[in-house]
Parts: sequence; C-alpha cells; structure tokens
Amino acid sequence: MNGEISTPTQELTQRLSATPRGARLARRLVAQQLADWGYPHESEVNDTAQHVVAELAANAVTHGRVPGRDFELRVALAAEGTLRIEVSDPRGDRPLRFVTEPDGESGRGLILVTLLCVAWGVAERQVGKTVWAEVSLKERG
Ligand SMILES: Nc1ncnc2c1ncn2[C@@H]1O[C@H](COP(=O)(O)OP(=O)(O)O)[C@@H](O)[C@H]1O
Ligand SMILES: [Mg+2]
Repeated sequence: MNGEISTPTQELTQRLSATPRGARLARRLVAQQLADWGYPHESEVNDTAQHVVAELAANAVTHGRVPGRDFELRVALAAEGTLRIEVSDPRGDRPLRFVTEPDGESGRGLILVTLLCVAWGVAERQVGKTVWAEVSLKERG
C-alpha cells in the first residue's frame, strides 16, 4: 500500500524521460493499462486514449521539456465513465497556445485532443504544469 486513496488497479503513474522514446513509452503504457482494464488494444476507447497520450506526451517532450528533467504520466479511471489522462512537464513559463487555424506544420495536436476528449485543460503545479484530458469510456458506436 502506498497510502493513497486510489488502488493501483485504478490508476497508473509513471515518470518518463523527456525524449521521443519516453513519449512512445507513454503511449504503450496507456495501451497496455487500458487493455488490463478491459478495453482491448483494437477498441475505440483504447485507440482514442493512445492518440491523446501521444499528442500530450509529444508536447511535453518538445514544448514542455527542461533538459535533464522527466515528465510524468498519470491515467486513472474516473467517475462517470471517463478516463482521466494527465501529462505533467516541468516548464511553467510557457503557456499553451490553442491554434484555431493550423498551418499544416503545427497546431494540430490540441485540436485533435479537443475533438477526441470530453474536456481538457491545464493546471499549474508547484513546478511546471499538468495538461489533463478526459476521454469517454463509452464507445461512440
Ligand atoms: N506542454 C506544453 N508546454 C508548453 N507549451 C505547449 C505545450 N503543449 C503545447 N504547447 C504550445 O501550444 C502550441 C500548440 O500545441 P499543438 O496543438 O500540439 O501544436 P504543435 O505541437 O504541433 O505545435 C504549441 O506549438 C506550443 O506553443
Ligand atoms: Mg503538439
């Protein structure tokens, strides 16, 4: 027991290196965790969660990176049939920019997150910030 309220079966927390490899690992960890929770790799929920984590982790290791510092992944089964995804990075000095007209090169990530999630946002932390997103666990059908 780690003294937290949530049991390990409802939540995954992992520190990862702020590298492309760390970002790929975040995606794979979420895919595996969701499969363990009953959403197989081919399911819509698993696929959606992987896309969202991939975008948030890519942003953490590019825009949110501080050399030598890790980023942190957290996924949890939340109430009301939603999956909560959190990606925390150590940069507190750079706000996110929501680009409404992507130029094809950049600005698509957060639009994708907006389309795939029921809600997302940014929370300040003592060091850096947490970008969170919530995915519906109900298939769209
Ligand atoms: N974790 C982050 N830390 C700091 N800035 C971020 C972060 N995520 C996104 N941003 C800012 O928001 C912009 C939009 O993000 P996104 O839509 O993913 O586009 P892209 O990553 O292709 O530039 C980024 O260009 C960057 O300026
Ligand atoms: Mg991006």
